[in-house]
Amino acid sequence: MKKVLVLTGSPRKDGNSDLLADAFIRGAEEAGHQVTVFRAGRKHITGCLACNKCYTEGNKACVVEDDFNELAELYQSSDVIVYATPLYWYSFPAQLKAAMDKMHALVKGEREMAIKESILLACCEDTDPHAFDGILQSYKLIAGYRKWKDLGHVLAFNVNEPGEILKQPDLLAKAKALGRNL
Ligand SMILES: Cc1cc2nc3c(=O)[nH]c(=O)nc-3n(C[C@H](O)[C@H](O)[C@H](O)COP(=O)(O)O)c2cc1C
Repeated sequence: MKKVLVLTGSPRKDGNSDLLADAFIRGAEEAGHQVTVFRAGRKHITGCLACNKCYTEGNKACVVEDDFNELAELYQSSDVIVYATPLYWYSFPAQLKAAMDKMHALVKGEREMAIKESILLACCEDTDPHAFDGILQSYKLIAGYRKWKDLGHVLAFNVNEPGEILKQPDLLAKAKALGRNL
């Protein structure tokens, strides 16, 4: 049994990336894994201030009072991290990016992170085959830097209105299979 952290990036509920995440979660839970979802797109996490006061006030990862301290625990205890996100300006939405930036606290505070494997689930409106180049490269570089094994990606083009991803059942099946095959 693996502990799986799913970080979702969309501020809107039941949108295309949430549906990709749901499919993945169904697969992972069917396979007996323990999944925790952190809805980063709907949390309040400020950008990292680079104050380097991480873990200097008790056991708080960040001295800023926002939702990051809840996530910091999950970064430490999860075996697998899954990013399920819309593409915003060829990159991660700011809310999710802030949650990613603040991994800095765990590095600075020399806290162990159990994460060993990662997955990217992403969607966008564009049909340009290069649309995901930037986010995919960022994801791969982060995984490489953290020595996470990249278990794969699902990249859904041509989805904009919430639920449009349902017209691409092959991609939902691929997300589910990634969960089942963890
Ligand atoms: C602020 C913002 C920026 C976006 N930037 C892009 C982009 O760079 N490329 C693209 O193809 N779609 C872009 N989109 C469209 C979303 O990626 C698309 O609607 C996606 O399906 C939304 O996912 P969700 O339903 O999970 O929220 C953007 C949408 C918003 C609101």
